Amino acid sequence: MLAVAILAAGKGTRMRSSLPKVLQQIAGSSLIERVLKSSNELNPDRRLVIVGHQVELLKEKLNHHKGLEYVMQKPQNGTGHAVQQLLPILKGFNGELLVLNGDVPLLKPQTIKSLIKRHQSYGCGVTFLTARINNPKGYGRVFADEQGRVKEIIEERDCNEDQKLNTLTNAGIYCFNWEQLAKILPKLSDNNDQKEIYLTDTISLLPEAMHLEVDDTEEVSGVNNRIQMAKCEAIIQKQLCEEWMLKGVSFIDKGSCTLSENCEFGRDVIIEPQTHLRGNCKIGDNCKIGPGTLIENSVLGDNVKVINSIIRESKVANNVDIGPFANIRPETTLEDNCKIGNFVEIKKSTIGKESKVNHLSYIGDSTLGRKVNIGAGTITANFDGTNKHQTLIDDYSKIGANSVLIAPIKLGKNVTIGAGSTITKDVPNNSLGLGRAKQLIKREWSN
Ligand code: UD1
Ligand code: CA
Repeated sequence: MLAVAILAAGKGTRMRSSLPKVLQQIAGSSLIERVLKSSNELNPDRRLVIVGHQVELLKEKLNHHKGLEYVMQKPQNGTGHAVQQLLPILKGFNGELLVLNGDVPLLKPQTIKSLIKRHQSYGCGVTFLTARINNPKGYGRVFADEQGRVKEIIEERDCNEDQKLNTLTNAGIYCFNWEQLAKILPKLSDNNDQKEIYLTDTISLLPEAMHLEVDDTEEVSGVNNRIQMAKCEAIIQKQLCEEWMLKGVSFIDKGSCTLSENCEFGRDVIIEPQTHLRGNCKIGDNCKIGPGTLIENSVLGDNVKVINSIIRESKVANNVDIGPFANIRPETTLEDNCKIGNFVEIKKSTIGKESKVNHLSYIGDSTLGRKVNIGAGTITANFDGTNKHQTLIDDYSKIGANSVLIAPIKLGKNVTIGAGSTITKDVPNNSLGLGRAKQLIKREWSN
């Protein structure tokens, strides 16, 4: 039997944030989400999350994880105190308890599996992960012999100057024999600099403790402040870019781009500098994205080109050109071969195949058919001050420059609107719509 407990009750004072630390995000997922994901692969029999701060918010953010057991720790009196809360809950449980710090977000499932395997083959009271860190500031120091048997862990603030020189650090990932742990948990004291009950004190109380040193020290980086969080972000971003490079995506300047883990790319995609993809994004083959582009929760087909633009919660089909400086707002669909040019904002609209909105326009709550041409500076006036209204422009219609289409309004097929018009009434198929003052000429006006 395997139970996993994630320590997530700490406030994270060093983050100086109104959010509980474990809800801070890197590469689009929270720290706790990452820890949960890495432990889910083990198929544990029980999954416990020890919580204490903004519990409702935490539960809400994790509500898509079914079968989690939340255990309240109040007040939060240290990592040992956190695990003491499991005593009534795991009463009679027989097996291993894997304890994961909720703020160690880069751990790979394979590493946890190796830890459990090592634990099972030696049969100690506890086996835990360690790393040799050159600058181990803030981490507990592990005192072990050559065989990997551990005498004790001393938190940095309780170390003397000599002990601080030890670079073998505690990663905060432990596999305990629950029965043995349950016996000694009540004996933990708060006799340390912080006056907290430390989980690390169980190491010297258990009959036998072993450590397993990880090869990749980055994997066990802990996040206590925003500097460490930025380091983890950089590690993930590098991993993600390199992973996609090996699958056929080019990054011109990967250090200036960020991705979320839920991005997918086709082949021969080129990502130009300062491009950011967030949330769930799917990018087709042969796309060229950037420079200076932000795409969030959107799907792009093949051969799409986007320059210096923003696309959010939208769908873009194949062979579409966007930008520079276009703002594609949520619920927009751009169909095949359409072109959205500079300084164009599109919101909650469908732009049909081969249609063009090339310059300085606002198109909102609109449906455009195919091969529609929107002249420079055209505005759909979709808001009457209280409600939003729809604009429909059917196939092959051409809207002259600087027109205002006052919604609700319907322009039929093959309609032409004269430049500078303010259109307030529907225009039927094949008609010209004009809505502007007649030009006056007064001769000899100035002499
Ligand atoms: C801890 C370890 C340290 C190790 C480091 C690795 C202890 C005493 N020290 O230190 O040896 O090198 O992690 O990253 O364990 N938490 C609770 N309840 C509490 C206090 C903390 O659930 O009362 C949770 C936090 O939310 C956090 C985790 O436990 O997710 C670790 O707590 P933190 O205060 O960050 O411990 P460190 O000082 O980093
Ligand atoms: Ca920590």
